[in-house]
Amino acid sequence: MSSEPSSRIIPVPPFDYLVFGATGDLTRRKLIPALYHRFLDGQFDERSRIIGISRTPWDDDKFRQVAREAVETSAQETYRDEAVIERFLRCFSYVPNDPRDRDHWADLSGHLREDADVVRAFYLAVAPSVFAPICTYLSEMGYARRDSRLVLEKPLGHDLASSRQINEAVGRVFAEDQVYRIDHYLGKETVQNLLTLRFANTLFEPIWNSAHIDHIQLTVSETIGTEGRAYYDQSGALRDMVQNHLLQLLCLVAMEPPPSDEANALRDEKRKVLRSLRPIVGEDVARLTVRGQYTGVTSDNARVPGYLEELESGEPSETETFVAVRAEIENWRWKGVPFYLRTGKRLANKVSEIVIQFRAIPHSIFTYAEGSPRPNRLVIRLQPDEGVRLFLMIKDPGPGGMRLRQVPLNLSFAETFSARMPEAYERLLLDVIRGNQTLFMRRDELESAWAWIDPIRKAWDESDEPLPAYTVGTWGPTASVALIERDGRTWHEANDDAKPL
Ligand code: BG6
Repeated sequence: MSSEPSSRIIPVPPFDYLVFGATGDLTRRKLIPALYHRFLDGQFDERSRIIGISRTPWDDDKFRQVAREAVETSAQETYRDEAVIERFLRCFSYVPNDPRDRDHWADLSGHLREDADVVRAFYLAVAPSVFAPICTYLSEMGYARRDSRLVLEKPLGHDLASSRQINEAVGRVFAEDQVYRIDHYLGKETVQNLLTLRFANTLFEPIWNSAHIDHIQLTVSETIGTEGRAYYDQSGALRDMVQNHLLQLLCLVAMEPPPSDEANALRDEKRKVLRSLRPIVGEDVARLTVRGQYTGVTSDNARVPGYLEELESGEPSETETFVAVRAEIENWRWKGVPFYLRTGKRLANKVSEIVIQFRAIPHSIFTYAEGSPRPNRLVIRLQPDEGVRLFLMIKDPGPGGMRLRQVPLNLSFAETFSARMPEAYERLLLDVIRGNQTLFMRRDELESAWAWIDPIRKAWDESDEPLPAYTVGTWGPTASVALIERDGRTWHEANDDAKPL
């Protein structure tokens, strides 16, 4: 069964997708399921090739078997079609290869087609320390053509200096217009919808500024822990989530209207936002940021492990699993409007949303007994239950005089559209083949984001303050509540929606 109406499916040209790190978790959990759905929808067929590369000594059959399992465990039953899976698996082949071992470099000539009509893409789902050797290998073996594309997975460095090193190593082989830096948040449907909401309606843009908006909240909360991801302890929530996903969301909310949705037009505007972020340095770090680490609790007599207990090393760790930041953008549009960002693991709920809180009305004509009008609020929910809700004041219907009530105008994507919501990677993987860089980060954007993050990280590293703890299943350390309440504001909670006045 196809998951989209066929009128919207525009096939891409045949491709050779080389996936470095093919035996890894990302390939199994995200890349293969995403490619399967695009195949199922007829966006590409057996003329395309997916070539797995890794040090592990697998062969074609083993890679196909792993791909089959990945599809069977991820695709809902309605979308599992045995005949399609069989055809899909024909695209797969595998080459054991360690690009760091120059003496044993694998010959890919039998796998890569020279035909200029076949798009050639290299996907680097590997640690960044291997980016440079892979680029050298691709260049010296003559596989990197001027029209081939390079996809880079995060982490793209751990600070500005390391990110520059990576970009320079990559830049020696690939031009910027060939490089696709993944931030999978940009591939999420509702994130793209943010662009439509802002720039395909006249309603919001005239009031999208400090004259009408009181503040903005960006929350990306998860209920899962770090799930044994080895890199996390070196990374922490600031690098893992804020530097990329949250700042990208902030850019899309705050940027000026670009002249078009062409990749560089959009990325120019995002870059300006990043450069307008007020630096948080020195003593301001303690005032404007909050970090925390989850600790275990005993609930129903079952002990839930905390971050330290989950760490395999058993060593003490100062890595933050929660961050909240009060950011400001220094430009005409946003002067004085705080952007409250928060993200964390093992929190009360899994939710990613953007809350635009408008200003209060200047004067109420209603009596105290009738109720006080609450400021309008636009909530853009990225996940789960993608949708947009605009909170408005209305009169509570029925007799009994005037009673004010706040209700949401609710646009739930699941209720409005019957089509399956594609996963972020589905869009991004095929945008690479289409040659569309709009939803990928440009080098200067990435470096501006690091330049803003680095002083925060530095101040934390130099601080003697103990890392605050928070209990699994809560909304993070109490200091995060204080961060916003100090300004006379509160975090929007998902169940606020249903609350009567
Ligand atoms: C990744 C982070 O980029 O995003 C993970 O490295 C995090 O730590 C994940 O769990 C969250 O993505 P999503 O799409 O589930 O919100």
